[in-house]
Amino acid sequence: MPLPTSTQRTHWRDVAISAAAHAAAFIAQESLTRHTITWEEKSATDFVSHVDLGAEAIIRRVFAEQAPDIRIVGEELGGGSPVNGLVAIVDPLDGTTNFLHGFPNYGVSICVALDGVPQAAVIHDVSRGGTYHAIAGGGAFRDDRPLHVSTLATHGRALIGTGIPFKDITHADRYLGQLRRLMPVVSGVRRAGSAALDLCDVTAGRFDAFWELYLNPWDLAAGVLLVREAGGRVTDLEGRDAGLEGGPIVASNGILHEWFLGVLRDEGPAHSPQPA
Ligand code: IPD
Ligand code: CA
Ligand code: CA
Repeated sequence: MPLPTSTQRTHWRDVAISAAAHAAAFIAQESLTRHTITWEEKSATDFVSHVDLGAEAIIRRVFAEQAPDIRIVGEELGGGSPVNGLVAIVDPLDGTTNFLHGFPNYGVSICVALDGVPQAAVIHDVSRGGTYHAIAGGGAFRDDRPLHVSTLATHGRALIGTGIPFKDITHADRYLGQLRRLMPVVSGVRRAGSAALDLCDVTAGRFDAFWELYLNPWDLAAGVLLVREAGGRVTDLEGRDAGLEGGPIVASNGILHEWFLGVLRDEGPAHSPQPA
């Protein structure tokens, strides 16, 4: 497939906005009776319900009607490789634990990508309201408002988002070492429970940086494009540009990035980056 045109990207974004809105309406409706929801165990600490599955089915239906050439790769119903061909990488409900507890921080994340390169991204914030969206080369928005990452250069003032490992704690010691080094040199660390919305918080300049030791493609794909389109940087722990295959992720306003990577990798005393 040749490089997509901006008309194609805009169409894909609009289909994703519509699909996410339909899924969000369903999630919001189901939240009214959340006490009656049956939790199915994916593992002893990881749950799913008919809401995750129903939201993904809605998204698949909207894409089948409006963009049938796009293959869906969804968290709940699968669909193959996220880095080959034209795909929509879908997290129908990011922040399932929050949703099940009524903690208001969960959303729907959809990224249309071509051969591993994000083309259009949509994250619908179900609990707080608002739709974050971007097409490659077109900037990042919340509804009609353009977004930019923060311009903060002083790490002592930084607010950092993170995800605490809970499914696989093989690397817990590494994570705790990172947190230990970070705690005294930043203004605060937050674990809000939805990686997609954490990346919206970086996009909108509320978080100055974010990291998590492992994310799946559906957790990160849309957020990666949003942060970059808002002027930020997203890499792995070695500073290589993050792809869509999943793995460790470090996102920031760009200014703090090298400093942040240094703290996460334990490379000597933290120092302030120079303002640009
Ligand atoms: C989870 C959330 C959470 C992150 C986990 C994800 P889910 O997604 O994004 O913040 O720490 O790694 O799996 O299971 O709620 O879709
Ligand atoms: Ca997720
Ligand atoms: Ca999910």
